[in-house]
Amino acid sequence: MKLLLILTLVWREASCGSPSVQIGGLFPRGADQEYSAFRVGMVQFGMADFRLTPHIDNLEVANSFAVTNCFCSQFSRGVYAIFGFYDKKSVNTITSFCETLHVSFITPSFPAEGMNQFVLQMRPDIKGPLISLVEYYKWEKFAYLYDSDRGLSTLQVILDTAAEKKWVVTAINVGNLKDERKDEAYRSLFQDLEIRKERRIILDCEQDKVKDIMEQVITIGRHVKGYHYIIANLGFVDGDLSKIQYGGANVSGFQIVDFDDPVVAKFDQRWEALEEKEYPGADSRIRYTSALTYDAVHVMTEAFRFLHKQRIDMSRRGNSGDCLANPAVPWAQGVEIERALKQVRVDGLTGNIQFDQYGKRINYSVTVMELKNNGPVKIGYWNEVDKMVVTKSDLYPNDTMGMENKTVIVSTILEAPYVMMKKNSEQFQDNDRYEGYCVDLAAEIAKHCGIRYQLRIVGDGKYGARDAETKIWNGMVGELVYGKADIAIAPLTITLNS
Ligand SMILES: *[C@@H]1O[C@H](CO)[C@@H](O)[C@H](O)[C@H]1NC(C)=O
Ligand SMILES: *[C@@H]1O[C@H](CO)[C@@H](O)[C@H](O)[C@H]1NC(C)=O
Ligand SMILES: *[C@@H]1O[C@H](CO)[C@@H](O)[C@H](O)[C@H]1NC(C)=O
Ligand SMILES: *[C@@H]1O[C@H](CO)[C@@H](O)[C@H](O)[C@H]1NC(C)=O
Repeated sequence: MKLLLILTLVWREASCGSPSVQIGGLFPRGADQEYSAFRVGMVQFGMADFRLTPHIDNLEVANSFAVTNCFCSQFSRGVYAIFGFYDKKSVNTITSFCETLHVSFITPSFPAEGMNQFVLQMRPDIKGPLISLVEYYKWEKFAYLYDSDRGLSTLQVILDTAAEKKWVVTAINVGNLKDERKDEAYRSLFQDLEIRKERRIILDCEQDKVKDIMEQVITIGRHVKGYHYIIANLGFVDGDLSKIQYGGANVSGFQIVDFDDPVVAKFDQRWEALEEKEYPGADSRIRYTSALTYDAVHVMTEAFRFLHKQRIDMSRRGNSGDCLANPAVPWAQGVEIERALKQVRVDGLTGNIQFDQYGKRINYSVTVMELKNNGPVKIGYWNEVDKMVVTKSDLYPNDTMGMENKTVIVSTILEAPYVMMKKNSEQFQDNDRYEGYCVDLAAEIAKHCGIRYQLRIVGDGKYGARDAETKIWNGMVGELVYGKADIAIAPLTITLNS
């Protein structure tokens, strides 16, 4: 049996007189920012007259033995509810313990399948927005890349809808690729998709996997015009999209944290002021899973404050806290706590927070995003009533508008008499350093179109050829393909043997 190292932190600063309710916390290793958001929430929502006292365990959530251990030790300590994460391997362990012991579990993890009375899902379902977006783009043939570690319920809905609407869907599981070979596997996967002319692709995975995949997509040059990616998670701006942005591919996705919302803007100010040393992860903008964590603390505080006000007795009557007792002894107030949690309605970082009787988010709104030349842009929103509402339909707004104030990057190459350094070039700056036929041509074109431009000598001094093996372009052609330059002006020779 593997040796388990379970780090337990007990937060005791709250225990000076004011009523406090103990809750549990299960955090996977690496969820630093989520844990920081949890602690910020504890400080934020705690009041002099009432607060939560957390017991935190850091563990490997894929290990259901470790999960059982932590769950039981927290139960025996008398926590009234548990906040935490699960994965495919531990979700069933957790939901069945909750069911048996009447302990509510509040989670930002992917929505669990089926009806789980004691599980409160902070994460809104993405199926509705995703299907609406595919319909909006009128896709009839596309590849759907999913991560089986997040469950199969979205896959099921995609396939059902495809059958109904006669979509041609190629579904591929990218959840089971071996880590050490994954880069190569992603590249060959996209080569295969290219052969099938699949250029519309849904990536149904979390941001870290999207990042890994997109890195390989860029390497083989599939992030250029003619490709369209939909990223199916709720944190579109959490990843770095700048490299794809310059490539020119269409990229769309969803965002649950609206940074223009005053509630979020106010939080963001406070978050930016935090010390990274004390709050790991506070140096970057809050990710959506951390925002869901913070909102979960809000929900728990509201529920227990309500119970406290109602003077509901939460002492542990006749329960030794043995989670493996046979027969099981459920938590006497478990159902009352579960009801109070589901009745909470607050305005959080992830918008309106409200649950149905199964603990699923209802009445939520998701922002629909597209990547544009100048970064991610909201194009509309989705909610259950209106479905997808497009607020900004100018998919490609008057592209040349704004060009007047943009400096166009012109890639060129030193070659007499077309482009040459002036003899006294050190006395000049920018474009004036060069002379020659192409330099004059560039000036004429710019004058004609009314644009500003900057000549830039290609870094590797090459015209551009494609590496037969990696399929990567170099030279000026590469700068155009990968978006580093807008225009290339040079004496190009067209040969027959290329
Ligand atoms: C990318 O978006 C543009 C503008 O909406 C559209 O014309 C084009 O077909 C899209 N490309 C793909 C591959 O879907
Ligand atoms: C849905 O949420 C909005 C706030 O975003 C609220 O005004 C409205 O009453 C809610 N609708 C229902 C049916 O609860
Ligand atoms: C695009 O240009 C047309 C005509 O000049 C104008 O009527 C329209 O409002 C412009 N659209 C945007 C989004 O600026
Ligand atoms: C271009 O810049 C000028 C001054 O910097 C500004 O007045 C003008 O509105 C800008 N035009 C566009 C289309 O952004």
